[in-house]
Amino acid sequence: MAATRSIKNKHREPRQKKNPSMATLPTPSRRRKPRTLATVSAILAVLLVISVVCLLLVSSNTWRAFQQVVSYETISVVNEFPHDPQAFTQGLLYAGNDTLFESTGLYKKSSVRKVALRTGKVEKLQKLDDSLFGEGLTLLSNRLIQVTWMQTNGFIYDLKNLSKLGTFNHDMKDGWGLATDGKVLFGSDGSSTLYQIDPQTFKAISKQVVFYKGHQVHNLNELEYINGEVWANVFMTDCIAKISPKDGVVVGWILLPNLRKELIEAGNNAIDVLNGIAWDAEQERIFVTGKLWPKLYEIKVSPIKSKIEEGMAEQLCLRKPFQFL
Ligand SMILES: *[C@@H]1O[C@H](CO)[C@@H](O)[C@H](O)[C@H]1NC(C)=O
Ligand SMILES: *[C@@H]1O[C@H](CO)[C@@H](O)[C@H](O)[C@H]1NC(C)=O
Repeated sequence: MAATRSIKNKHREPRQKKNPSMATLPTPSRRRKPRTLATVSAILAVLLVISVVCLLLVSSNTWRAFQQVVSYETISVVNEFPHDPQAFTQGLLYAGNDTLFESTGLYKKSSVRKVALRTGKVEKLQKLDDSLFGEGLTLLSNRLIQVTWMQTNGFIYDLKNLSKLGTFNHDMKDGWGLATDGKVLFGSDGSSTLYQIDPQTFKAISKQVVFYKGHQVHNLNELEYINGEVWANVFMTDCIAKISPKDGVVVGWILLPNLRKELIEAGNNAIDVLNGIAWDAEQERIFVTGKLWPKLYEIKVSPIKSKIEEGMAEQLCLRKPFQFL
């Protein structure tokens, strides 16, 4: 009996192996299934973790700031024009036909003015109430829009005769800078936040914290929109930050320490900080000035050729948040 069985078994085993189609398939297949599932789940889990990490990194401005190539630029002066040395410049814009519009600050001295570029002559002037301190200014649809310091209200003026057309309230904590791309307003309130503002309702559409290599850029002041970038004076520095309005990342620094230095060396001891950027899109001219500066400059910007020392832009262009006491 035993012999018969063993022969039978011997006979049967190889047969099973040789012909796996029916009898043997279920066994290995059953054994493999859990392992395949586990492997697939593990791969999926790893992929999920990787994508979550990537998403977090990509959405982080800090990470982008680290990744971004930053340009460092210097300037040359193309033209010098006279500028009212009593003008505490807080807003500046170019409106064609060699005409600038300017908003000035200081209590009892604040104004909106139309200024002839070449002579510096104030052609029209609208004084603000003595209790108000003028700040950023921009032009949209023939309306001049102005914000004021330590207030959340601002004013709209007729471009032609500077008569006041209305007032508005905005969502920023304070009023410092204004600019426009022709669709939205860009606003600054002295913090590191760049606002995008609806020009009809003056409600904030979006806010971006401005970063340079992982550092917040505080004290964003006068603004100008130039070729897809928002250029910002950084208060208490001789730097202009070129900001990508998409994500708030600083894509470049323009360093202008010589303008203020040379004015002081020429005896203008009472001048205040660099402030005011205007852009002539037609002729691609850039104008800058400062508070109580006797001059307004047309400048050209070009990359700095020498090596940029580590930490140089941080030292020159970043300051602690301004505190008004
Ligand atoms: C341009 O400015 C000049 C000088 O202020 C003025 O006489 C002229 O009417 C202006 N032209 C236009 C088109 O506004
Ligand atoms: C200013 O101009 C607007 C329209 O352009 C007009 O309605 C207004 O009366 C003018 N104001 C003054 C003071 O001339």
